Amino acid sequence: MNPVLGVRGLVKRYGDRTALDGIDLDVHEHEVVVLIGPSGSGKSTLLRCVDLLEEIDDGQVLLDGVDVSDPRVDPDVARRGIGVVFQSFNLFPHMTVLDNVTLAPRHVHGVARETAESRARDLLDRVGLADRADAYPDRLSGGQQQRVAIARSLAYDPRLLLLDEITSALDPELVGEVLALVRELAEQGRTILMATHEMGFARRVADRVCFLDGGRLIEQGPPEQVLGDPEHERTRRFLARIVDAGRL
Ligand SMILES: Nc1ncnc2c1ncn2[C@@H]1O[C@H](COP(=O)(O)OP(=O)(O)OP(=O)(O)O)[C@@H](O)[C@H]1O
Ligand SMILES: [Mg+2]
Repeated sequence: MNPVLGVRGLVKRYGDRTALDGIDLDVHEHEVVVLIGPSGSGKSTLLRCVDLLEEIDDGQVLLDGVDVSDPRVDPDVARRGIGVVFQSFNLFPHMTVLDNVTLAPRHVHGVARETAESRARDLLDRVGLADRADAYPDRLSGGQQQRVAIARSLAYDPRLLLLDEITSALDPELVGEVLALVRELAEQGRTILMATHEMGFARRVADRVCFLDGGRLIEQGPPEQVLGDPEHERTRRFLARIVDAGRL
């Protein structure tokens, strides 16, 4: 069976800087794959390339076996199968929570208001915010706003969820509620590729951890192996720095 996501020989350059230097990565259905690595190692670039937000210089991105990096593929159509949440919540401040969640379905994909709203209320219920549908984002905590962003990313029941450091802009006491929601999604069998600095979370929830450095995938494996007994010196050095910073 095809993996949900297949990344083949992916190369991305910005000018003369190589951000991704030949990445090969499969994510299978129901798998939770966590990307770790130092700042600038290419985690966000990889997620952005998979979401077809960046033109790639070489290689392929396959979704369910279909090469969506082929220039003939309409990225808007391909992206329907992908839900994305970034570090900053990107909610529209002048729109209610409900309107934020229904915006893309209604205005980009032409879903009727009633259908979009009923689906949005269901999603808000799932992230524990059914009673905040009519609130404006500035009346919500950062954690609640990020849960709205997660609800929004689920609007099309995506095959693949991409999460980029979704807790790093949150106050420490709000991180837990967002990670608990991600864990719930993982337990429900969602297929997730996420970048995070939350090593404890990676250890508990990831099926596989991938360590990136300098745009290369240095090593990957079960969390207990990569975080507990890494093969490569570079991984060891990175983890040692994290231990020093009290994050592991
Ligand atoms: N839009 C851009 N223009 C030029 N260079 C970029 C751009 N985006 C990323 N880069 C470069 O690509 C490399 C990879 O960056 P990326 O943001 O993917 O790292 P990261 O692993 O997500 O880091 P962090 O942990 O800080 O989020 C870095 O050298 C970065 O400077
Ligand atoms: Mg990043």
